[in-house]
Amino acid sequence: MCGIVGYVGEQAATPLLLDGLAKLEYRGYDSAGIALAGNTLCVHKAAGRLSVLENELRGLSLPQRVGIGHTRWATHGAPTDQNAHPHVSGDGAFAVVHNGIIENYTALRERLHDVSFVSQTDTEVIAHLLQHHFDGNLLSTVRRTVADLEGAFALGIVSSHAPDCLFAVRKASPLVIGICRHGVLIASDVTALLPYTRQYIPLADGDIARITRNDVTIFDKKGKMVGRPMQEVTWDVESAQKGGYDHFMLKEIYEQPEAVWATLSPRLNKGRVVLDDVIFTDAQLAALRRIHIVACGSSYHVGLVGKTVLEQLTRLPVEVDLASEFRYRDPLVDSSSLVIVISQSGETADTLAALREAKARGARVLSVVNVVGSSIAAESDDVLYTWAGPEIAVATTKAYSTQLAMMYLIAIHLGERLGRLGEEEVSALTAELKTLPDRIRTALRTAARLRELAKRYQDREHAYFIGRGLDYAVAMEGSLKLKEISYLHSEAYAAGELKHGTISLVETGTLVVAAACVEAVAGKTLSNVQEVKARGAEVLLLVPEGAATDGADHVVTLPRVHPLFIPSVEVIPLQLWGYFLALARGCDIDNPRNLAKSVTVE
Ligand code: G6P
Repeated sequence: MCGIVGYVGEQAATPLLLDGLAKLEYRGYDSAGIALAGNTLCVHKAAGRLSVLENELRGLSLPQRVGIGHTRWATHGAPTDQNAHPHVSGDGAFAVVHNGIIENYTALRERLHDVSFVSQTDTEVIAHLLQHHFDGNLLSTVRRTVADLEGAFALGIVSSHAPDCLFAVRKASPLVIGICRHGVLIASDVTALLPYTRQYIPLADGDIARITRNDVTIFDKKGKMVGRPMQEVTWDVESAQKGGYDHFMLKEIYEQPEAVWATLSPRLNKGRVVLDDVIFTDAQLAALRRIHIVACGSSYHVGLVGKTVLEQLTRLPVEVDLASEFRYRDPLVDSSSLVIVISQSGETADTLAALREAKARGARVLSVVNVVGSSIAAESDDVLYTWAGPEIAVATTKAYSTQLAMMYLIAIHLGERLGRLGEEEVSALTAELKTLPDRIRTALRTAARLRELAKRYQDREHAYFIGRGLDYAVAMEGSLKLKEISYLHSEAYAAGELKHGTISLVETGTLVVAAACVEAVAGKTLSNVQEVKARGAEVLLLVPEGAATDGADHVVTLPRVHPLFIPSVEVIPLQLWGYFLALARGCDIDNPRNLAKSVTVE
């Protein structure tokens, strides 16, 4: 995720900015840059690690005492020097660093049609808007610029028109101000402040701060001067990086409402789904006979959900393959196939090879990827990015959830284009999608209960997950989460399949997690719960509010959602269950043994 730092004070800004950026490295980034204020702005930026930028700056005389810095994690445009922040206005008088996404940047670029843009970013438009609105007064210039922007953003701005001054803007993306002995700092994350101060002021939504060496003035969204209370950081650097959570995995679990919303919202427009610049012509759709989904690990589990949702909404046959199988099985794929490749990293070797195989057979490949500019994104015909931000814990959570959101979007879009869904159905489905972040938030409230229960089951050696339909697809992900981080042996079974073999393993005290949120088959799953209970199992049951819970030892109740979107809510307690069992068992949760975040070998 991108990181912002800024400084105004008595010392040369560059070392402080670089130090602050180093503290933000843990968030993941692919380029870095700084802008120093003076009568002429001095801007240096480079793709790659911070050390590349540091090498570029070595030996330069940089006495400036006001500046901004940024680490970029690519969203709009590949990780290149040109796309790195800060971005500068055409006249060179304004430099801006930005976290978040400017949702209306395309419209703003069109408005600034006489400007020549040098990057593919959504951010560059802000620098040009600042120049466009400049009226001799920087505060009103910033205010008018911000009024043009839609989306979530935190900004740091410097200008040669006022080289002793720094502006900080916050809308829905965090930004804090820290006051230290020799000056004032801004940062998107308190971690960057900790070497200098523990006192900080979090900006509120809509705030604009004008900062000089001796003065911090904050204006609220109505333009009224306001005071914001000072707070104190009580964490050390390591826990600050984790946002106060014990592990990155838990932090990322709690980031899911925002990550899902960031993925959904730019693609929902007036009750319809707009898929970036992915265009299917009528002729291509008429020729489309089947869809293949290819992926590995949790991304494959998303594919299993995708199959049900796509088949329901498009009525086209959908096959789901593990990439490592697909590439060697001589698949029936040709130019009448759409192949959807799902990958968080965009670098998984088997998935990349499967993509090449599909392309060689003439299929159109649409990838769902979280890392901009990754190999899979680069080689696909079309790319849809999930906006989960970088995931640090090896066990995926928020990337999985954003991939699910993307499968719903693709299915609704194709369903409409293929004439299988009417306007009203599309509008009802998109309205349901908008409720997902809140429903996920509600599901997160199961954490306290699961934490307690996990202590009780921490010594078990086996667990079985059962469910039917979409419940089964989510059960597979729940089982994978548990085994990868807690080292408990765990298997997921289609509940109806139990009695064809696996039930022989059920004995007194066997832990069974039963997912029964899909109303159409919940009764059947409850019968399977009775079967395992009769053989001594202890059952943790997931159900929607108000549903039957017969036979369960423990019940987790979840908010109701549209039947096709159940996985987004149901996976939350399963992620938490894996996390808390691993915690109780004292495992290395963020870095489980033998596993890698990105598997770039076959
Ligand atoms: C590894 C990761 C999993 C991930 C899988 C596929 O096993 O630990 O979390 O689901 O690779 O990775 P991808 O980046 O292609 O989604």
